[in-house]
Amino acid sequence: MQVVQENNYVVNKIASSMVTKKTYSIGLIIPDITNEFFTKLSRGVEDYANQIGYNVMLCNTDNKSEKVFDYLHMLEEKMVDGIILASDYDSNNDSIKNISENIPIIAIDRDVTSLNLEKSVGVNNVQGGYDATKYLISNGAKKILYLSGESNFYTTKDRLKGYIKALIESNITFNSKLIKYGNYTIDWGYQGICEVLDEKIEIDSVFCGNDLIAVGVIKALNERKIRIPKEISIVGFDDVFLASVITPPLTTIKQPMYEIGYEGAKVLFELINNKEPLKVKIELDTELIIRKSTK
Ligand code: RIB
Repeated sequence: MQVVQENNYVVNKIASSMVTKKTYSIGLIIPDITNEFFTKLSRGVEDYANQIGYNVMLCNTDNKSEKVFDYLHMLEEKMVDGIILASDYDSNNDSIKNISENIPIIAIDRDVTSLNLEKSVGVNNVQGGYDATKYLISNGAKKILYLSGESNFYTTKDRLKGYIKALIESNITFNSKLIKYGNYTIDWGYQGICEVLDEKIEIDSVFCGNDLIAVGVIKALNERKIRIPKEISIVGFDDVFLASVITPPLTTIKQPMYEIGYEGAKVLFELINNKEPLKVKIELDTELIIRKSTK
């Protein structure tokens, strides 16, 4: 140890990984680093990984599913010990299946059971969509627009199931004109609600796929002097910081963003250490947070 200290010797991690077959690093692939949902999720992954001496390589795809595969191949070349996929993907591409045979991969938030990955961690999105819609109905809403992100995401599909379940329970007829898909951004929220209003589609409320969409809706309604919630009520999803500071403060479905990341990392390390491909789908709870954007 004296010689080590005298020579300021630093372990060559690449050389030691050749011996231990471990790099003590994992990859995390997210779709939108500018969205607080994914930054909090990433913090949860990092905190758990750092606690057990691992580093995290954060990969942001900018919502481009083709970048998922570029990153997966890069992480494979870097010989990470595991990968957490929190992004969208093209399920027709066999890359994930092939890579998951060599490197443990789990999905968090957006389930990828179609790729037969062993484990996933997220929330019960059907329940979240149901609670949002039921709350709007309980305040008298009958013409509820579901304004959401990409239609192929599991989160989008499951929230729609909850929306429809609440309508059926309350004997409200489903109207496909009240379903609009785009992406999980402020710009789409603004554009989507403007299209609905310009097409003179009658609505009394909007269930937004996430809080960023809701912020875009609020911006457009404020510009048109449409009163919230008196004329149109709004519910979001996630409960990012913006939801509590926007005017009017947003009623939303709170997701445990940090915990999804933290629990996801825990599940990945169980897979790395035990190689036990147990089929596990962990669903954390959501919570309805009532503020002033609803009656
Ligand atoms: O804000 C991004 C949305 O996409 C969140 O609701 C999250 O669940 C992800 O699916």
